[in-house]
Amino acid sequence: PRTAPILVASNRGPVSYALGEDGSLTARRGGGGLVSGLSAIGPDANAVWVCAALGEGDREAARRAGDSHLNPGDTGGQQVRMLDIAPDVFAAAYNGVANSVLWFVHHLLYQTPVEPVFDAEFADQWASYERYNAAFADALAQEAVDEAVVLVQDYHLALVPAMLRERRPDLRIGHFSHTPWAPPDYYRLLPDDVAAGVLRGILGGDRAAFLTERWAGAFADCCAAVLGAEIVRDGDGNGDGSGDGAATAVRFEGRETRLGVHGLGADADFLRQRSRQADVDERLTSLRAQIGPDRKSIVRVDRTELSKNIVRGLLAYRRLLETHPEWRERVVHVAFAYPSRQDLAVYRDYTERVRRLADEINAEYGTDGWTPVALHVKDDFARSLAAYRLADVALVNPIRDGMNLVAKEVPVVSERGCALVLSREAGAYAELGDDALVVNPYDVQATARALDEALRMSDGERADRTKRLAAAATALPPQAWFLAQLRAL
Ligand code: G6P
Repeated sequence: PRTAPILVASNRGPVSYALGEDGSLTARRGGGGLVSGLSAIGPDANAVWVCAALGEGDREAARRAGDSHLNPGDTGGQQVRMLDIAPDVFAAAYNGVANSVLWFVHHLLYQTPVEPVFDAEFADQWASYERYNAAFADALAQEAVDEAVVLVQDYHLALVPAMLRERRPDLRIGHFSHTPWAPPDYYRLLPDDVAAGVLRGILGGDRAAFLTERWAGAFADCCAAVLGAEIVRDGDGNGDGSGDGAATAVRFEGRETRLGVHGLGADADFLRQRSRQADVDERLTSLRAQIGPDRKSIVRVDRTELSKNIVRGLLAYRRLLETHPEWRERVVHVAFAYPSRQDLAVYRDYTERVRRLADEINAEYGTDGWTPVALHVKDDFARSLAAYRLADVALVNPIRDGMNLVAKEVPVVSERGCALVLSREAGAYAELGDDALVVNPYDVQATARALDEALRMSDGERADRTKRLAAAATALPPQAWFLAQLRAL
């Protein structure tokens, strides 16, 4: 039955279920910018959110949803359809292609003398990625009313727009990338058919949207380099390629796909209200006790993710303690590194490195009354908010990041103002660069200097900057971000 006028499709849905031994299902909200942004859709939007069942709990929930396929348990007010895709197909598409290859390409994560290797195993995984994308296209084609609007999210589902157009030419289809987009030379590490397939897939939609102009421009550049597509630019009145402004559309095989930029902002109302609740207060008290009186804090909150650059962050902190002994005993680095993508060996290894380095720094500099690094690895949203409230300095130093919502959330929640040390390679830099202390994420030495400057910033300056950061960070809150995409389609 076709019922939905608006559809959203993403790999990770608003919740994921754990299956208890007694057969009970417990819902948990997922991490990451995509879910944070889309969770604001709310029940009023009359949208159906199609996502993948990620584990056994989700599969069981999908089975219990019955004939309507919708709402497997408590979905936080959303209309959700979870796709029960065969576990081996899902694993090959999600771990093998999406997270080990497409994510790596867009975040420049390969150690290129030996990686990547595209062999027969990858060819099989790519076939699974196609099947997994086709399963989404089938479900969307089934749910959508005539001329419905479909918003397809992220690198997991790059093939869906073209596949869906084939099945349902009446639909208006947009794709949104929550990641950076690689520049052409790096993008072309991908096998030629994969490089072209991903671009053709996205160009099958009416719109391709990104978090910043930089990523939209890189996408257009890849379309030109790989497919020979034509880029339409601002100031290009007659379409003869003479404009030199930002890329606004890509023309390929007789169709035009418009480019859009929507810089997802923080949800001020939700954050301010949530961060004043009792569970956050409790955690604030225990964090304060852990840091100790009269000490400053440098806070970071991330998924334990290679692109987040947690190791260099710790190295910079160690360098700070080494070169500025006056900070010893007077600062604590509160580092939240929440588990992510632990099916992948490189992520498990990275997690280990983070732990070892934190231990090393504590062994090297720690004293009876002072632990220099407080590393927490168990995911706890309330504790993250408590840390945002008390942070003197926030460290956001990714190698590359589509946006980075932590950089936007901290200034909104901060109580006394917080100095932001921000990588110029995070999408958020485009909006927050003026009032942050901006660093090259590879430069440990410069990051250590920025930490020192941030710690020394006067109360007045910190408060002023935080106010401006908060204004910039909330310019396009999630609901407006979502509506802007709908309207544009
Ligand atoms: C990033 C991606 C999202 C993804 C999130 C968490 O924000 O853009 O698509 O959902 O990371 O990653 P995970 O693999 O846990 O879904």
